[in-house]
Amino acid sequence: MKVERLPPIVSTLKPSNHPYLNGPWTPLLEEVNASDLDVIEGKIPDDIDGLYLRNTENQIHQPLGRFHPFDGDAMIHMISFRDGRANYRNRFVRTRCFTAEQEAGASLWGGLADPAHLSLRPGFGAHGSLKDNASTDIVVHAGKALSTFYQCGEGYRLDPETLDQQGVAPWGPLDGISAHTQVDEHTGELMFFNYSKHAPYLHYGVVDRDDRLTTYMPIPLPGPRLPHAMAFTEHYSILNDLPMFWDKDLLARNVHAVRLHEGLPSRFAIVPRHGGEVRWFEAEPTYVLHWVNAYEDGDEIVLDGYFQEEPMPKPRREAPSGYEHMMAYLDEYSFRPKLHRWRFDLATGRTREERLDDRVMEFGMMNGRFAGRKYRYAFSTISEPGWFLFKGFVRNDLETGATKAFTLGAGRYASEAPIAPRIGSTREDDGYLVSFVTDENTATSECILLDAAHLEDGPVVRIALPHKLCSGTHACWADRTRVA
Ligand SMILES: [Fe+2]
Repeated sequence: MKVERLPPIVSTLKPSNHPYLNGPWTPLLEEVNASDLDVIEGKIPDDIDGLYLRNTENQIHQPLGRFHPFDGDAMIHMISFRDGRANYRNRFVRTRCFTAEQEAGASLWGGLADPAHLSLRPGFGAHGSLKDNASTDIVVHAGKALSTFYQCGEGYRLDPETLDQQGVAPWGPLDGISAHTQVDEHTGELMFFNYSKHAPYLHYGVVDRDDRLTTYMPIPLPGPRLPHAMAFTEHYSILNDLPMFWDKDLLARNVHAVRLHEGLPSRFAIVPRHGGEVRWFEAEPTYVLHWVNAYEDGDEIVLDGYFQEEPMPKPRREAPSGYEHMMAYLDEYSFRPKLHRWRFDLATGRTREERLDDRVMEFGMMNGRFAGRKYRYAFSTISEPGWFLFKGFVRNDLETGATKAFTLGAGRYASEAPIAPRIGSTREDDGYLVSFVTDENTATSECILLDAAHLEDGPVVRIALPHKLCSGTHACWADRTRVA
């Protein structure tokens, strides 16, 4: 492995005992280019050609208040595969806020767990006082990587392979772009939404394969809401109004306290992809962070995602003092998300719901070529109890109900694992799950590939990475044909 280290960035972060600034959440501050990565075990397959991109959250400066892991700056990690060889790079995303804090040599914005007045400059996004750190999500659209923020920020673009910074997506509206934009690999379109504290509170848009904004429309809501993700089918997009959002009275005093609003249902908006009449459907109250996929089945829209049984969990008594509330909202075993199916009948207006698996799981992935289309396999992560860390994967066969699982072992933590389809494959599970693994036993990181059809067999290859990665949130796979 050849490693080139880039000039260091300015950091003022001091050691602390914060549970999300240590261990597998220790921020990584160096940027490198590494070529011809070494294999620890197995052989790099020569039947995939493309890139795995992962967004992680790395705090650079001493926080102004109480750090929350979603406050960290975006770092994109890229591993490319071709002809049985692998290269790696990582870069911070040069957002306006990253640049401003580099120039100041200090934090300028408070975080999610802080009062709004802590920020020294006007903030961004739906919240309005936060740093736009673009650190939540990453997709590839129109040949570019797009890094986005869950509170709605600017869409930052990078060359997917060199990670050269390419500035802000020019089509981004004033209310920004939420994380969880969706790419339809069949049409090359990108679907997105944003939300805000001012009417109409929600917008939906489409950008075509040539990077032109073709649809942008309001989806009026009764007030400010906190949708985290959207889904799409071949002809429709699905947005949501869930009963977990900022308390109205506190929000009037600029206090951002999220609570479950008893008595309100979950509501889903079914929108024709390129605009038109919005159909609303009601369902059992819950909160959902992530959807796995959606598709059309006769008159019905089928939507799979993770139904939270306890959207407003009790504080975790076991957590370090002062972090009880934060750690409950980061612990899946506290809010208990479960794989769930909603069916919205366009003919009758009725909703049907069904639990697909009773285990706690989240952060679902599937073969991107089947996104928006009928699909069979959902791949979810299993988390470490008490922590926002992934310790393994579950595969659900949604036709037969059969499941398979793989667990990494003590002290080893994965990243979200999309499918890299084999070259020329047609079968949905003919490919590899790709994941970065951080190993706390050895203080190293590696990339693993699991056979999507036999993930219980463990990695087909383990590839050494040049440094230990910090944990984060989302990742994607892009075939070479989508990058060139
Ligand atoms: Fe997310």
